[in-house]
Amino acid sequence: MSYGAVPQNNSGRSPYGNTDLAYTESSTGFINPRGPTKKKGVSPWIKFGVPVLIVVIIAAVVGGILGSKAGKKDGSSSTKSGGSSSDPDASVDPKAPIQTATDILVAGRFATATQSKYMIPIYPSATNTVLFVEPTIAAGSKKAWPEDTFKPSNPSPTQVREDRPRIIAPQYKWDALPNLIRSDPYLQTWNDTILKNATDYMSKQPITYAMDGDSGILDNAREFKMRIKAFGYAYHMTQNTRWVDRAWEEIQHVISDDFGPANDTKWNPTHFLDTAEFSAAFGIAYDWMYAAWTDDQKKTIREGLIEYGLKHGAAVYAGGTTFGWWTSNITGNWNCVCNGGLTIGALAILGDDTTSTASGLLGKTIDNAKANCALAVMSDGSWAESPNYWYFGTTGHAEMSSALLTATGSHYGLLDVNADYWRTGTFHMHVYGPTSLFDYGDHGPNKFSTTANSMMLYGDLLDHPEFILHQRDRADSAEPWSMFWYDPAVAGAYWSNQKLDHFFENPRVQWAAMRSSWTDDDALYIAIKAGQNKGHQTHNDLDVGDFVLDALGTRWAGELGSADYLYPQYFASQEQNAERWKWYRKATVGQNTIVVNNGNQNVESAPTVKHDTSDTAQGSSTVLSIPKDSTAFWTADMTSAYFDATSVKRGARMLNGRTQILLQDEITATGTIQWRMHTNATVALDSATTATLSLDGQVLKVSMVSPPDGAEFVKLDPVRPAGMPEPLEPDQPNPGVTVLAINLPAGSHTLQVLFNPQWPGMKESDYVVPKTVALDSWSLRSHD
Ligand SMILES: *[C@@H]1O[C@H](CO)[C@@H](O)[C@H](O)[C@H]1NC(C)=O
Ligand SMILES: *[C@@H]1O[C@H](CO)[C@@H](O)[C@H](O)[C@H]1NC(C)=O
Ligand SMILES: *[C@@H]1O[C@H](CO)[C@@H](O)[C@H](O)[C@H]1NC(C)=O
Ligand SMILES: *[C@@H]1O[C@H](CO)[C@@H](O)[C@H](O)[C@H]1NC(C)=O
Ligand SMILES: *[C@@H]1O[C@H](CO)[C@@H](O)[C@H](O)[C@H]1NC(C)=O
Repeated sequence: MSYGAVPQNNSGRSPYGNTDLAYTESSTGFINPRGPTKKKGVSPWIKFGVPVLIVVIIAAVVGGILGSKAGKKDGSSSTKSGGSSSDPDASVDPKAPIQTATDILVAGRFATATQSKYMIPIYPSATNTVLFVEPTIAAGSKKAWPEDTFKPSNPSPTQVREDRPRIIAPQYKWDALPNLIRSDPYLQTWNDTILKNATDYMSKQPITYAMDGDSGILDNAREFKMRIKAFGYAYHMTQNTRWVDRAWEEIQHVISDDFGPANDTKWNPTHFLDTAEFSAAFGIAYDWMYAAWTDDQKKTIREGLIEYGLKHGAAVYAGGTTFGWWTSNITGNWNCVCNGGLTIGALAILGDDTTSTASGLLGKTIDNAKANCALAVMSDGSWAESPNYWYFGTTGHAEMSSALLTATGSHYGLLDVNADYWRTGTFHMHVYGPTSLFDYGDHGPNKFSTTANSMMLYGDLLDHPEFILHQRDRADSAEPWSMFWYDPAVAGAYWSNQKLDHFFENPRVQWAAMRSSWTDDDALYIAIKAGQNKGHQTHNDLDVGDFVLDALGTRWAGELGSADYLYPQYFASQEQNAERWKWYRKATVGQNTIVVNNGNQNVESAPTVKHDTSDTAQGSSTVLSIPKDSTAFWTADMTSAYFDATSVKRGARMLNGRTQILLQDEITATGTIQWRMHTNATVALDSATTATLSLDGQVLKVSMVSPPDGAEFVKLDPVRPAGMPEPLEPDQPNPGVTVLAINLPAGSHTLQVLFNPQWPGMKESDYVVPKTVALDSWSLRSHD
């Protein structure tokens, strides 16, 4: 997929948040806080902005009528700005339109587009604090949804509500939905997108069977589920049975002899995720389109679901299968997805199933998910696997919880058996940088219908409105679950009173997120980790000390992602000599950290961390004035992660009112030492100790402060140094990636690398050169 032209971030703002100086008048009469926007073309993501633009035009018109001071609002030029791709200047300035309280109230939507390169919401830049308020969540009669009248006093997993649908979207919600859509701009956009997507799927061939080695037919299963959800949604919203007919075509295909083996292993139970996702989809199809299916069709769906799905789940729980490993001691997405899919399939046919397969499974899956899936959230909220696997795990967990609630009236503790479960919403918010995730570890397969919309369910049921508000502006919010998990009566801004920094302390990951704003996509962000290299369902890298760095709307230090999932030994072991660690992307050389003696880190790492923060929180406005003394730091003693070293410490801190970052290492090693950082930027080495990185029209200067004798920056290719063991197959290429590195001989060294993003309006003399302070002596005020 091509991203098309990337809008240039040509922010006129100073990093100190003194935006008044930066405002300029645009030709449309709107105030453009970003200064003149230079765009080389219309991003394909503009489509996400268009429905909102229409709302904004209404807002503009109403605002005008009400005497808004935002200037003349010319509807025709706004329309023009929605423009066609043949007109290179005809793009929307996403930050321009909303400036007044009236605009906000009428538009009802804060993010104005998700058209950035990284699909990140773009918030209007407004200092008017009245516009944005504390997050609040509606309770009881204040909720936009009517109350569910199905409230069993003594819920049981096998006692289902009488009406259908019973899975996630009961009829009373479908009845209320059209009115809510008409009055809520989020629901409106999502509804349009889902209908549009369903229309796109309508014209496609049924999915093609594609057995992908160790990854099985998981993509098939998830794509199938995505289509079924869209068809089911479209059927309910339009009452047109052509959607049901199209779903039937798809259903028949995946149980036919044309699809996979002509026996009961069709849905590939040896890779049970596939079986589970098909089961979930069959459950949704059966339940959502129940009123439209003939008895014969129902029978076919039920029999297919049992034969290719639930039967294998029952066999797993009866013991003795070779593919039921995910039921014991698995704190990760597998347990959530597998139990979730079986549960949805079982709930859907409960009552119609004469084989007792469904009721039998419901006696197993819930307790199993409570003992495993729910514990994939660690004490600090971090997901046990990786930030991308969070999506799969929480989607499975949220679907299962929601389906149990709607179908039987209880989630049986799935949401709170782990008292820290809610913290995973906080984890997701902090792992989300201004451009993209701190995406350490494996990235996982294609997501299809896997999203972060669990944030909406968790926010609602666990009383964290900020989770809902954070997610509703994201591009992946437009899918059927959000239509039912989102309550439009939620109000406020997720960033209001939200602290800029968070330290996650569970010894398993031990990571920090420090930023300069929640709403400025140009913000400075560093996320950095220590943690144990083992214990992440073999989705980790040997990456103690690894970091990502965002500034000026782009990612300067980034991750390489997954290596080859199809490689037979990829997940086989996480021991020191495991094949997994031979892949460049999993090995320590493939991370943004210190490498000693050209070797890997110790898999038994157990670092210790320290940190502090000025506790700066964003206010209610999208523009944040950072006090000069606002700072945060995090240090780690990473010695246990290294061989051939007696001490390895790393620290990162925000400097100069969060406009610069210092990364400091103190290393005593008997082997050679290498500092590495992977970047997509073009790297120019200006001198031995200074480098200029250019990317997306922006500049980051990197320099060494008080460099050790002979230390110099070098540019390397992202490949292993000669002599390191290689996997049996070639590494994936990492096109466009350069490694900025520093080589040091064995011995004791202190390295201080200073990152100076070249902020518009900030002069060379405005940047500070930090003094040298030993990591153990770092404090909030140590670098003033
Ligand atoms: C949902 O979207 C479809 C397609 O854009 C539209 O026809 C329909 O009117 C929308 N529903 C509501 C209630 O607005
Ligand atoms: C099912 O069919 C596949 C493909 O023909 C075959 O490899 C497999 O052994 C069969 N499994 C069983 C349980 O019959
Ligand atoms: C469960 O997994 C943990 C972490 O991988 C491991 O330390 C423990 O020994 C396992 N327990 C059992 C009963 O397998
Ligand atoms: C809907 O379609 C858009 C592209 O038009 C795609 O990016 C998005 O993932 C689709 N969403 C779903 C839930 O299918
Ligand atoms: C390079 O850019 C791609 C696409 O945005 C991103 O996925 C990757 O993480 C980046 N790599 C680095 C090293 O920053």
